Amino acid sequence: MSVNSEVKRITTHTLQRMKENKEKISMLTAYDYSFARLLDEAGVDVLLVGDSASNVMAGHETTLPITLDQMIYHAASVVRGAKRSLVIVDLPFGHYQGNSKEALASTIRIMKETGAHGIKLEGGEEIIESVKRILTAGVPVIGHLGLTPQSIYKFGTYNVRAKEEAEAEKLRRDALLLEDAGCAALVLEKIPAKLAQDVTKSLRIPTIGIGAGPHTDGQVLVMHDMLGINTEFKPRFLRKYADLYTVVTGAVRQYVSDVKASDFPNEQEQY
Ligand code: KIV
Repeated sequence: MSVNSEVKRITTHTLQRMKENKEKISMLTAYDYSFARLLDEAGVDVLLVGDSASNVMAGHETTLPITLDQMIYHAASVVRGAKRSLVIVDLPFGHYQGNSKEALASTIRIMKETGAHGIKLEGGEEIIESVKRILTAGVPVIGHLGLTPQSIYKFGTYNVRAKEEAEAEKLRRDALLLEDAGCAALVLEKIPAKLAQDVTKSLRIPTIGIGAGPHTDGQVLVMHDMLGINTEFKPRFLRKYADLYTVVTGAVRQYVSDVKASDFPNEQEQY
C-alpha cells in the first residue's frame, strides 16, 4: 500500500475479520491491468493472479506450462490496476513442490518484482515445508485443497474431489495442518458442499470456495468464466454474470462490417 494511498487496502487481517463478522469474501481471478482496475473498482475483495492464466490467457490445456516469469508479468500488471483489492499470486507448477528453498526464492521474486501481497500454492502435507519456509519471510500464504489443477495428471480428471471418506479425511487433516502452519486462508475447489461446510466450521481462518457450495467464507471464480468469455466451459457450479462472448463478437462484427462498407470513420471521426 502506498503511504499516500487514499483507499484502504484489504489485507489478510481484513479477511480474518470478515470471517469473524460473517461477511462473505469475494475473490475473482485477474491477469492484466485493465480488468484488474474494473474488478477493483467494482468492489472485489481479493484478486487472484491464478495460474489459470495458463488456460485463459495463453490457451494451454493445463496450468502446468505457465512459467514464473509469465506469472510475474501478469501479477505486476494486476497490482498496477488494483487500489483496494488484496492481490494474491499463484506459485506456478515446479516452483515449490519438493524444494522449500526454491519455493521461498520464487516467492521473494514475486513479492519484489510485482508488489503483490501474498501467494497461493496447492496441496497439504506434501508441500508443508514450503509453506512454513515462505511464512518465515513474512509473506501471507493461502492454501488450496480439493481439486488442485497442477496435479491433473495424478487425478486424471477435473471431477469433484474428496467424495470418498479417505480423501475427505486427508483434506480435513491437510486443512488443519495448513492453518497450524500459519496460512491466512484456504481455497477449497470442487468438493462436496457438506465437506466444505465442515472444514469451514473447523477452521479459524477463512475458506474461499469454488464449486464447494454456499457455506465457505467466500467464493472465487475465474473471471473469463463468470463473464461468459468462454462458451465451452459449463460446470454446474459456474454462474455466468455476463455474455461477453456475444457482446464482443457482436461489436467486432459491426466494426468489420462498417470498415468494409466505408462507413467508418465518418465526418466526425476524422481531423
Ligand atoms: O488458478 C486459478 O484460477 C485458481 C482458482 C480456480 C482458485 O486457482
